[in-house]
Amino acid sequence: MQTFLYAKDLGNLSDALALAKEIKANRYAYEHLGKRKTALLVFFNNSLRTRLSTQKAARNLGLDVIVLDVNQGAWKLETERGVIMDGDKSEHLLEAIPVMASFCDIIGVRTFAGLTNRQEDYTEHVLNQFIRYSGKPVFSMESATAHPLQALADLITIEEHKETKRPKVVLTWAPHPKALPQAVPNSFAEWMRAGDVDLVVTHPEGYELDPLFVGDARVEYDQMKAFEGADFIYAKNWSCPGVTCPENYGKILCQDRSWTVTERQMAVTNDAHFMHCLPVRRNVIVSDNVIESPRSLVIPEAANREISATVVLKKMLDAIQ
Ligand code: CP
Repeated sequence: MQTFLYAKDLGNLSDALALAKEIKANRYAYEHLGKRKTALLVFFNNSLRTRLSTQKAARNLGLDVIVLDVNQGAWKLETERGVIMDGDKSEHLLEAIPVMASFCDIIGVRTFAGLTNRQEDYTEHVLNQFIRYSGKPVFSMESATAHPLQALADLITIEEHKETKRPKVVLTWAPHPKALPQAVPNSFAEWMRAGDVDLVVTHPEGYELDPLFVGDARVEYDQMKAFEGADFIYAKNWSCPGVTCPENYGKILCQDRSWTVTERQMAVTNDAHFMHCLPVRRNVIVSDNVIESPRSLVIPEAANREISATVVLKKMLDAIQ
């Protein structure tokens, strides 16, 4: 596997889920694969879970790890070709990427959407430069439009906790004071469609996700109706994806707190598990009672980030042995 951004990049999903189960039972089973190899993790944006879990996964596989926080200690990087670099950016990605690549065998990149230029974000402008100019396998640690390591961890978590063969999984928008990217809901919708679940997406009008990710999944604008009989509730805020109205791309269209997930909505579910990728704003996205309930999976879900990253890095190492 040379790149990891979409579910299809992983190959057969059932095989990947079986590998995840095997790795969870023995996370050092493939420790020999990374010997004398180095993973470089490049962060353009903050992280807690991705930073820790990906380093742990790399070490499970015997890899050395270098972490670079681009905006804390490195030169500020220009990402656009043709810019006259007389501002505050001292180095261009076109030099920085091959230099970074000369010190590693695999590169992970976290680079969030700018939320001002839909075309630039949806062509994964920064991540694709790493893919094009590094000559190394590159994986997304959440890029402009996708967070596949999170979505794979979410699918592993649902597989572990489902009580019916094909559970009803509801992805619900929830309010947030800041404009957030669509990467998590995009990948969640994409990976749930690739998995064996009944996916329903619910959000206020105007928040329609890109068809590339949401495909033909059922969209229900009435949140209470969407929650009826659900086995898993996955909450997340996202800003306007600009699908129906491109000029609204990246904007906050709704602050309606009635969309906050509380016991009121959970009461109509099939005693659903609650999920969120974290970090989460309590009593904005979800009430204290719901996130603290015995049906909340937010901690095991985060812990499974180590497993999803170990699966992905193992498949990348297989390709460069
Ligand atoms: N869920 C997730 O990716 O968390 P971090 O932003 O803390 O890495």
